[in-house]
Amino acid sequence: MKIAVFAGDGIGPEVTQQAVRVLQALDLPGLELVEGDVGGAAWRKHGHPLPEVTLEIARAADAILFGAVGDFACDHLERHLRPEQAILGLRKELGLFANLRPARVFPGLEGHSALRPEVAGAIDLLIVRELNGDVYFGDKGIRTLANGERQGWDLMAYSESEVRRIAHAGFKAARGRKGRLCSVDKANVLETSQVWRDVVTAVAAEYPDVELSHMYVDNAAMQLVKSPGQFDVVVTGNLFGDILSDQASMCVGSIGLLASASMAEGTKGLYEPIHGSAPDIAGQDKANPMATILSAAMLLRHSFGREAEAARIESAVAAALADGVFGGDLGGSYGTTAIGDAVLGKL
Ligand code: NAI
Ligand code: MG
Repeated sequence: MKIAVFAGDGIGPEVTQQAVRVLQALDLPGLELVEGDVGGAAWRKHGHPLPEVTLEIARAADAILFGAVGDFACDHLERHLRPEQAILGLRKELGLFANLRPARVFPGLEGHSALRPEVAGAIDLLIVRELNGDVYFGDKGIRTLANGERQGWDLMAYSESEVRRIAHAGFKAARGRKGRLCSVDKANVLETSQVWRDVVTAVAAEYPDVELSHMYVDNAAMQLVKSPGQFDVVVTGNLFGDILSDQASMCVGSIGLLASASMAEGTKGLYEPIHGSAPDIAGQDKANPMATILSAAMLLRHSFGREAEAARIESAVAAALADGVFGGDLGGSYGTTAIGDAVLGKL
């Protein structure tokens, strides 16, 4: 069980430390943690946000636990040397094409003032976002039109094989949950989405136990606010998924609670909280480490099939929240280490 630990910048090291404590407390057989430098921290030490030595650690590991990258002191650097290139580079180098982002309201938070009580209790959804294609990776440029105006353009494209592999990821995820998959596209207007819908529909034949539905993205945005409880798994493209997954994350209380997994073919994955390096609270024991602790739970489930230990971590976080263990992000006064202590106590 070789896990690369890339803590990164800002609150990254603080929250990652608590997740590592939780992993170590589980007595996992053959657990090996290998630390590596990423982001601004790596640039200072090696002159690059994702040095070759870090990439080698990533390739040799079974899974990666990632904190956060981002450092305003690097704002003057050329784009390819900025800290954020570490996470983009890892996604590209490791072929991490499926981003899984679960959003669920923990029982202890249903009455919290940050939530809408009339919908909060029912929210338990998973967004499966494609991560390697779409308008972000198509040809792009800025050209000058005949009338002298500048025009920016980005090509939106998905091939059948790209859609097929993310569709399988969506169906498999639904199979392990409530068995419902909603594919989100804009097939009434976009040819990319027509291919998307055709392929998802064809793949559905291999998963007769999963109930497939389709929804246009504009309606999906509205439904996520109106009644998020209707969704089990949502599968969608890179652009729509970027927007909808941030939107869904706000249905459940705080950015400090949301974990994510980025998967390649096979079981290798990268697991990280959805938040960034939060320089405003870094080094002050103020960050909520729960998102990173929950990312470690996803790591055990998706890369090692250790469902029991994953569920144990999630139950411990839920129990701590039910006891009112709230960080500043939830209006409480618990610090990073104290939250880690509380979760360990519940394990
Ligand atoms: P951010 O997510 O770092 O912070 C947004 C707000 O949420 C801040 O007020 C912060 O204090 C708060 N916050 C975030 N995580 C928290 C936690 N665990 N507990 C309590 N409060 C928390 O986003 P921001 O400020 O836009 O970006 C800061 C840096 O992070 C930038 O350099 C950005 O590029 C980078 N970033 C990196 C990501 C990654 O490593 N995957 C993702 C998003 C941003
Ligand atoms: Mg985003």
